[in-house]
Order: sequence, then structure tokens, then C-alpha cells
Amino acid sequence: MIKKGIILAGGKGTRMSPLTKAVNKQLLPIYDKPLIFYPLSILMLAKIKDILIIVNKGQLNQYKKILPDGKNLGIKISFIEQPTPKGLPDAFILGQKFIGSENVALILGDNFFYGQNLTEQLLNYRKLDKGAKIILHKVLKPEQYGVAKINKKNKVIKIIEKPSKFISDLAVTGLYFFDNKVIKYSKKLKPSKRGELEIIDLIKQYQKKGNLSSDLIGRGGAWLDTGSIEDFYKTSAFVSAIEKRQGLKIACLEEIAYLNKWIGKKEILKQIIFYGNCEYSNYLKKIIR
Ligand code: TTP
Repeated sequence: MIKKGIILAGGKGTRMSPLTKAVNKQLLPIYDKPLIFYPLSILMLAKIKDILIIVNKGQLNQYKKILPDGKNLGIKISFIEQPTPKGLPDAFILGQKFIGSENVALILGDNFFYGQNLTEQLLNYRKLDKGAKIILHKVLKPEQYGVAKINKKNKVIKIIEKPSKFISDLAVTGLYFFDNKVIKYSKKLKPSKRGELEIIDLIKQYQKKGNLSSDLIGRGGAWLDTGSIEDFYKTSAFVSAIEKRQGLKIACLEEIAYLNKWIGKKEILKQIIFYGNCEYSNYLKKIIR
């Protein structure tokens, strides 16, 4: 069972410069809320309540303004600063103390997931005891992603970063579930040609031992990686369209916490005061009405 989760919310944000020169990518808006709300909501939907957010050096105070310590959401949020963006597996080296002897989920701070049955799927992934699980989604341009080839039992038989020849159109998304060996494996990794520790190299260690499973987010679901300005606007448009049509918000953290019974009306009222007079607060008022 996975009770701990890490959000990797540092990074260079090169593709989004100059927007990311003063503000971290994960604090920029996807429609009506900061990007970080979306990956955090995914961990909360998986009922993971102990969360570590890894941020860039010097950016801790900005994050704490919007996500202090999690008490307002009935969860525990801690932070660590990453001195330099050394690559995704660095999360498990920096997070070693946080993880302790437990299993852990990792979600990239700029990944967006949405879809029917998603909560149910997340609650299933959370049950992982041994090995690792990656989540795959079909994409049009597999050559731009880490991709996995799977057999009929969803077991991963091949995994390649940005393949020049077609092997599969299933991209490895930024949501991963690992047993505690992930710390040991991460420490063994050597930086790649681009000078980073690579998540694909980490996952391959599980695959070699036959301990890597996968699951698909089907056509009813969406996975968007919001790394470029174009993706940012597309994701915002997606959230806006769904929220306006349904009158329901995607990634309203207080709503998830309230429905999980981690907080009550009192905490929601406090959040309404904190956010002030805005549409998000009006939505919170509706929830407790
Ligand atoms: P990337 O998209 O690989 O990189 P980036 O955000 O730095 O952007 P760019 O490529 O435009 O320079 O990172 C994926 C996510 O992981 C993103 O949310 C930032 C985060 N990240 C870290 O927190 N630490 C790291 O060392 C790396 C590589 C990424």
C-alpha cells in the first residue's frame, strides 16, 4: 500500500521562458488555479495524505504562500529544495528520509490527468506492494516521449526514451508507483549524455527483473504534459471547457479533501476567507451549502 507521494515541482522551465524567469512553472495558471493543484489533486484522489513537494532552490516561500503545510486540506505537505535539476530520479535521493522504509508514488509537477474512472484506477495503483507500475497513454507522436511496449497482460517488455524507430505509441506518463527499492536503484544511476539521471533508466531496472507492470489511461481519459506554452494554453482551454459545461471544478483541492472527509465546513470557510472574493471561493461556498 502506498501512503506517501512526491511531487517534483522544480525544473528549469526553459521552454516556457521568459514566463518562468521569475515564477516557477508549477505556480503559473492552468485556467483558474496554479498548475501544482492538478498533480496534487491526483495524489489526494489516490488517498495519499503524506506528500513531499520538491521545489527549486530559493522558491520555497512562494510555494508556501499557496500550500503552507497541508493542514488546511487535512493532509501533510513537506517541502525540500532541489539544489539543481539533476533529473527525475533525484526525487528519491532527495526524498530518502521522507520515504523511509515505505513505498512511494511520484508525479511530475507539470502533468495533468483527467478522466472517467480515474479515481478508481488511482485507488488500485495505490495497492502496489512490490515492484513498480507505470501509467501509459496513447500519443500521436511517440518519438517525443519515453515509450513502452507491452504484452497482453500489460507487462512491459520494452521501454525506450524518444525512439527513432516505431516500437509502440504508448507514452510513459509522469505518474509512477514504486516499492522501496527505488531509493537503492536511483542511487546506482549514472547521468545520461544530457547530464541528468533518467527516469527511463530507473524503470528499466525494474523491467530487467520482471517487476514492472503498467496500466493504460484509455480513450475516455486525458493526459496532458504542460511543458510548453502551447500545451499550457491547450490544457487551460480543456479545463475551462469542462468546468463551464459541468459547473464542476477539476482539481479543487478543498472539494476533494471535503469529500474524503479529511476536512469539514469550518476549514472550507477558512479557505474562503484566505482566497478572498473570487470565483474559486464562490465554488467552495456552493460545496458546503
Ligand atoms: P521537464 O519537463 O523535463 O523539465 P523542465 O520543467 O525543467 O522544463 P524544460 O524542459 O522546459 O526546461 O521536467 C518535468 C517536471 O519535473 C517539471 O515539472 C519539472 C520537474 N523537475 C524537477 O523538479 N527536477 C528535475 O531535476 C527535473 C529534470 C524536472
